[in-house]
Amino acid sequence: MPLATAPAMTPEEFRLLRELIYAHSGLSFGDETRYLLERRLAPRLQYHGLDDFGAYHRFLRFDPSRRAEIEIAVEVLTTNETYFYREPHQLRAFSEEILPALAQENRGARRLRIWSAGCSTGEEVYTIAILLARSGLFEGWDLDVFGSDIARRVLAVARAGVYGPRAFRTPEADALRDSFRAEGERWHVKEDVRRLVSFGHLNLLDDSMMGLVGAVDVIFCRNVMIYFDVAARKRVVRTFRDKLREGGYLLLGHSESLLNVTADFEILHLRHDLVYRKPLALP
Ligand SMILES: C[S@@+](CC[C@H](N)C(=O)[O-])C[C@H]1O[C@@H](n2cnc3c(N)ncnc32)[C@H](O)[C@@H]1O
Repeated sequence: MPLATAPAMTPEEFRLLRELIYAHSGLSFGDETRYLLERRLAPRLQYHGLDDFGAYHRFLRFDPSRRAEIEIAVEVLTTNETYFYREPHQLRAFSEEILPALAQENRGARRLRIWSAGCSTGEEVYTIAILLARSGLFEGWDLDVFGSDIARRVLAVARAGVYGPRAFRTPEADALRDSFRAEGERWHVKEDVRRLVSFGHLNLLDDSMMGLVGAVDVIFCRNVMIYFDVAARKRVVRTFRDKLREGGYLLLGHSESLLNVTADFEILHLRHDLVYRKPLALP
């Protein structure tokens, strides 16, 4: 039952909680977001039988189950909006220009690794996998499109690979439907696409977790770092630079750039879009 009157979050509680969330996840909450935190975290107080947000902050710092709880707090505060074939220009650049280049660059090893960092419920991962499969350039190759996210709840949806109509909200997404099996209103990703993907729970700000990711050819990190401040972006982009092989590609969301973040990448002017590339030999 909801609390008759949910406790208000004081400015001091807001400061403490947002610092804790930021330190854990890189998510940066501006001064105007106090009521958002209050509204979204109130059910957690109720769940644990806590009287106010000060007690919740102490719980997050000192309770034996604090690690699990901070994951849930971050989960309820993240924006997980995503859908198939999001940002079509970039995906056109990916399939028509980057994939043919990768087929050449990796033809010796016949191996391709793509990482969707902050994949939410998986639509981006399956879109990439379908484009790979349809390109016809990688028959018999060792392929993996790896999706990771900080939130376990969205990863469960991604692993299930079953989607409703809203996931197909762009006109371009319609063209992907052949790769799904329809059951009423629910669309199941077909097996030949599923076997190209894998998912993992990773916090991009957690260096020990980042050690689990091997070298990759392409990183998609779209609409994730918009919620980070510059310091967190710098940390994450350093990780991306370390994980990408030389000449590897970094694709950000259309409103994002590396301006004021790093000069370690070069800009590649493709026909359909601009993308970042790790230079062939970094000094
Ligand atoms: C808006 S979604 C973007 C999904 C997809 N990339 C797209 O563009 O459609 C942002 C995702 O980033 C994830 N995220 C936020 N902070 C993260 C972090 N520190 N580590 C990993 N994932 C994070 C959120 O859980 C959320 O699912």
